Amino acid sequence: MPSNSIDSLLHETRRFAPTAEFSAQTGASADLYKAAKEDRLEFWADKAREYVHWHKPFTETLDWSTPPFAKWFADGELNVAYNCLDRHVLAGNGDRVAIHWEGEPGDNRRITYAELTAEVKRAANAMAALGVGQGDVVAIYMPLIPEAIIAMLATVRLGAAHSVVFGGYSAESLRSRIDDASATLVVTADGGWRKGKVFPLKAAVDAALATGESTVKNVLVVKRGDNDVQWTEGRDLWWHDQVEAADPEHEAQGFPAENPLFVLYTSGTTGKPKGILHTSGGYLTQAAFTHKNVFDLKPETDVYWCTADVGWITGHSYVTYGPLANGATQVLYEGTPDTPNQGRWWEIIQKYGVSIFYTAPTAIRSFMKAGRQIPEQYDLRSIRVLGSVGEPINPEAWIWYRNVIGAGTAPIVDTWWQTETGAIMVSGLPGLTTLKPGAAQVTIPGIKIDILGEDGTRVDPPNGGLLVVSEPWPAMLRGIWGDPERFKETYWSKFPQLDSPKYFAGDGAHVDEDGDIWLLGRVDDVMNVSGHRLSTTEIESALVSNHIVAEAAVVGAADEATGQAVVAFVIIKSNQESAQTAAEASALLRQHVVKEIGAIARPRDIFIVSELPKTRSGKIMRRLLQDVAEGREIGDTTTLADTTVMQIISDKLK
Ligand code: WTA
Repeated sequence: MPSNSIDSLLHETRRFAPTAEFSAQTGASADLYKAAKEDRLEFWADKAREYVHWHKPFTETLDWSTPPFAKWFADGELNVAYNCLDRHVLAGNGDRVAIHWEGEPGDNRRITYAELTAEVKRAANAMAALGVGQGDVVAIYMPLIPEAIIAMLATVRLGAAHSVVFGGYSAESLRSRIDDASATLVVTADGGWRKGKVFPLKAAVDAALATGESTVKNVLVVKRGDNDVQWTEGRDLWWHDQVEAADPEHEAQGFPAENPLFVLYTSGTTGKPKGILHTSGGYLTQAAFTHKNVFDLKPETDVYWCTADVGWITGHSYVTYGPLANGATQVLYEGTPDTPNQGRWWEIIQKYGVSIFYTAPTAIRSFMKAGRQIPEQYDLRSIRVLGSVGEPINPEAWIWYRNVIGAGTAPIVDTWWQTETGAIMVSGLPGLTTLKPGAAQVTIPGIKIDILGEDGTRVDPPNGGLLVVSEPWPAMLRGIWGDPERFKETYWSKFPQLDSPKYFAGDGAHVDEDGDIWLLGRVDDVMNVSGHRLSTTEIESALVSNHIVAEAAVVGAADEATGQAVVAFVIIKSNQESAQTAAEASALLRQHVVKEIGAIARPRDIFIVSELPKTRSGKIMRRLLQDVAEGREIGDTTTLADTTVMQIISDKLK
């Protein structure tokens, strides 16, 4: 076995061909792959003309003369907000619902494209009056309410860029992001609803701005939580005062395709967060194209729901820009899935007739843990396409998702991409792709991805290696805000021996005999046991496929005999907890992994725990579990959603 391979030992052989009925109605066709193959750049130029309205048409498609700095459609001009709003109204679709918003306490708002356009125009005028224009950065720190989207669109309508900071981040995180991008305006709310309570946001903005000189001149505050707020005269302004009084007319001006659209900081497991910079024309093209084709969107009839917060890239590309550029009708829900009861999401799907549903494996696993009897109480027959994003989906979670949420028939698109890629890069297309549970499978038409060994050569399938994007793509990051050197070093320096620079994504992947891609997790999550590289994801999937397991996290721990050893942290399903002791459960699961994958993957230790440490975006922080597994002092836990979890785990294992 070549030493640069990542062994993929989990054999998943189930296949799900599209139904004839679905294929007959899908908008995507195999011609997309054909056209992209014939002339990749011409394909993207066509898509840019098809999906985007240009104030001034572009004549050049890609400028890659100074890699890794790309320019797409550079001499064209567009207004991104106009593309998401005005053009739908002008096309006669002003009465179509853009957003069905559901507040956590049960209040709701229905906003048409005409209403959303009018509101964004007023907000843009209000912000312009505060001095916002091209070259400025607006920080947005909001609950998931329509004004979060309105603020994003008003910012980019003026040619300024936004930096959305997830509402769950601390005052310190907010401040460091404000400083890094020199934001001049902060848009926030008094508070938002979460788990049955109002959480204050304005207070965190106050704390963030309390010390030292800041670039922030004004804070615009949306009234949502009705909680008490402190007021700094001259700096703080109520959104409703400013926006309601603003001129309702605003003509959208065209800005260059490479005008900065937003900066978004990656959650960063180590080091200072990176401000990922995205620009306008290429980003919008790929976000809209993928949103339409990956989800088989029919804007006239579908009701789409992506459960991501706009504080994450998924919320940028598949709540704000993709869906609105396509004139889709979507659901936006403020709160948590289990408030006031565990059926809240399914109730929302039933209420609005959601037909396309896009969520994350971590959510799916938590619903599996709670049991199928909960979704089964709701009418989910409107669902016709399911999506997954954020981490590899375990085959068992995939099957559950399809059977319980998708009536056993809905195609699941497992979409691989990153904050940096801006839009979906790898995913099957529903109605075209024969699906394999656990595999993201095929590149999007027009995207070139390779799986390379450490030496930079393509691995021979079936085999594992490192995922790289081999050609520039329209929605690619244009840099790290203020740090071009870090941009080059982080993403483009892994394979210096190659003639043309390739983007290194940091993920391991296996390519099977059909050429399909299976993501194996971050390469820092790949371990080496007795000279074999094993993926944490595969072992986790094996564990989760056992009926007693609700959730599992696996790390590689230093081991004298084998280099690294497999250490697993497992949550047992609540109805199974009393069936055996922890020692019995560990023994049973060790045997189970041997059966599923092989003796090479047998965990050295299995710890039964009640929680796993997760970031606010739901990613398991394996680094911390590795500290426990290797008997080290536990590292920085400040990015955990619940910072007490590691204490509970380490106390339990003492
Ligand atoms: C992981 C989220 C496997 C991957 C859009 C990537 C996935 C990182 C998938 C980016 C998937 C995302 N299958 N792994 N379908 N989607 N990932 O920036 O490790 O929050 O590098 O973007 O999530 O996370 P980010």
